[in-house]
Amino acid sequence: MAALIPFNDGGRRQAETNGMNPPDPDRPASIDCTHVGPVAVITFSHPPVNALSVGAGVIDALADSIGAAIADPAVGALVVMAAGDLFSAGADIADFGASANKLDRMRALTSDLIEAAHKPIVMALHGMALGGGLEFALSGHYRICAPGTKLGLPEVTLGLLPGAGGTQRLPRLIGVEAALQMMLSGTPLDASKALALGLIDRVATGDFRAEAAAWAKELVAAGPKRACDRLPAGDPAPAIDQARRGLDARSLSQAPAFIIDCVEAACTRPFAEGLALEKRLFESLIDSEASLGLRHVFFGRREVARIPGPKTSAAGVIHSVAVIGGGLMGTGIAIALLNSELKVTLIEPRAEALDKAVATIRKTIQRDVDKGRLSAAAAAHRIDSLFPSATLEACAAADLIIEAVYESMDVKRQVFVELDRIASPAAILASNTSTLDLDVIAACTRRPERVVGLHFFSPANIMKLLEIVRGRRTDPGVLAASMAFSKAIGKVGVVSGACDGFIGNRMFEEYLRQAYFLLEEGALPAQIDGALENWGMAMGPLKVMDLAGQDIGWSIRKRRAIEQPGRPYSTIPDQLCEMGRFGQKTGAGFYLYPDGRTAREDPQISALILAHSAKLGITRRAVADAQIVDRCVLALVNEGARIVEEGIAYRAVDVDMVSVFGYGFPAARGGPMFYAARMGFANVVRRIEEFAAGRNGWAWVPAALLRSNP
Ligand code: 3HC
Repeated sequence: MAALIPFNDGGRRQAETNGMNPPDPDRPASIDCTHVGPVAVITFSHPPVNALSVGAGVIDALADSIGAAIADPAVGALVVMAAGDLFSAGADIADFGASANKLDRMRALTSDLIEAAHKPIVMALHGMALGGGLEFALSGHYRICAPGTKLGLPEVTLGLLPGAGGTQRLPRLIGVEAALQMMLSGTPLDASKALALGLIDRVATGDFRAEAAAWAKELVAAGPKRACDRLPAGDPAPAIDQARRGLDARSLSQAPAFIIDCVEAACTRPFAEGLALEKRLFESLIDSEASLGLRHVFFGRREVARIPGPKTSAAGVIHSVAVIGGGLMGTGIAIALLNSELKVTLIEPRAEALDKAVATIRKTIQRDVDKGRLSAAAAAHRIDSLFPSATLEACAAADLIIEAVYESMDVKRQVFVELDRIASPAAILASNTSTLDLDVIAACTRRPERVVGLHFFSPANIMKLLEIVRGRRTDPGVLAASMAFSKAIGKVGVVSGACDGFIGNRMFEEYLRQAYFLLEEGALPAQIDGALENWGMAMGPLKVMDLAGQDIGWSIRKRRAIEQPGRPYSTIPDQLCEMGRFGQKTGAGFYLYPDGRTAREDPQISALILAHSAKLGITRRAVADAQIVDRCVLALVNEGARIVEEGIAYRAVDVDMVSVFGYGFPAARGGPMFYAARMGFANVVRRIEEFAAGRNGWAWVPAALLRSNP
């Protein structure tokens, strides 16, 4: 039986225990030192991203090599650069699991050896310099970049702060406001912007490696120039106050607040004290729940790409895609693909619908131009890559065909029979169904092994999740190619077995069931949504249904009433639908939407809920927010565990990534299974058993997998 282990090792343990393609074996770190006249050029390498790993020996090797060059009387200046595609992605995140103290070796390298050196040290950057990689570069005395290099401190996205001197050196180099902006957003800067801000000294015009060595030779006479010797320019108070006011009170991570504290210290305390505060706060964050959860998501989103069968990289590459259906989904999918520089044939037989889809696509791309996110030339290229067509024959040459027509088996069947006739034998035939049986769809073709589900989430050009649905006969090569395709279009692809609702909607159904029961027992919509939003969900469940359209849930519940008579739902949402309250699109659902978007509580709905409870003979009680969270979140956990148990999901982390990237589950809580592991599986089972003893306890049979994990 699968284990529900949390992990923080880049997926190695999970891959080993589940028979997946493991990550590439560790490629050893290496270091090389050559001499160009009086300049020692040190090049380090630690594939794939030059993580500055203590565990893999990178930090020690750098310290030895740099220390030797500083001590060498023949050396007048040093250049430090990296092999491969980028300078460095930062400290090794896998190091943190073992001990935060490991970073002390990196701090000693940057502060005591590099910054303190009496010979000038030039850092030569290319590709990317992120996190600890950039901090390492900031400790050097001069910086030169290859054009286009990205420089960033993304630690905040991992629930951390820059912990190798970044919070102290960055404001000294670029000022408080820009430093806060960079560290609080985590967004990297381009080399040209970095130059304008003073983060780097030069952008190379030719071969950056040769230019760095030549420049270092000139700098022998100039000597070192240390960031720690300056003070941040200007009055820091306004920028610090503004940053504090901008903190999100609901944030589960303390990292943003701590970053501001460190920057304040950089302006008000001696350098060494600032570094000491940074170290103390970094170490308190490293064990925080939020950082553990965010690091789980960092590795998890990469881990889910590891699936059995051929290696993803060996799968066929998809160049041309046809999308069938010009409705909301088809249009969103086409935009997502165009944004990824793919050629897209959009097929819609109804002329009016096709015109509308093309107009929406143009408008969405133009919006990116208006907002300065896209150049006019790039937008024109995207629009030229769209080939609208009214006939199915237009998909004959596509490598991948995505059907996104109306969610009805009859309609889909007709499409797949035709596709089987028209599509090239090598094409992958994908259905965007969110509920229908993929095996039935595949059986309409003579090539069920080429049929896969690609379940996009609306709006498809925004939402990160792509459920890749494996039918009984889907070829593993088709799955691997679909996974590679999901990465190519910037989505987090997660493979799901074929079942009603796949991973995400199946879990969401149990979550909703509890939310509706809680309405009957004593809570009102705003309390349920508020409790879950305060806990970190992007949007409460009742607001989600108002957004998605109450009619969608209604049709599913009608089907369930026949298929699963023993698993009843509250009829409250049905009553809403009977009143024509389908949510935002009708201006009313659980809430009123006077402006079409903003939810306002409606006394009529409160009265309806109270009357409904009375009719059921329920004495309404005060429901604590904590109980709302427990009931709804543990419903996700229990169904998620069952999904792993049944093999619908390969691993627990797949369930987590579906929840985080498709359903607004807070990344800082890692996902339902990670959350359950942190809570302790025995505690989860105990809680579920308590619910099982209460009203509608039939819904609470603990998954065997929860019991079998310690
Ligand atoms: N530590 C450990 N492993 C890392 C890593 C890091 N900092 N960055 C990437 N990796 C691993 C990935 O897990 C992946 O491993 P896998 O092959 O076993 O799955 C492999 O390197 C390749 O990474 P990607 O698949 O992400 O490669 P891409 O080319 O898509 O992206 C990247 C490259 C943009 C550099 C991306 O990897 C990235 O954003 N990395 C993390 C950057 C970051 O957050 N740095 C801060 C680290 S914390 C820190 O530095 C603390 C410091 O303040 C002390």
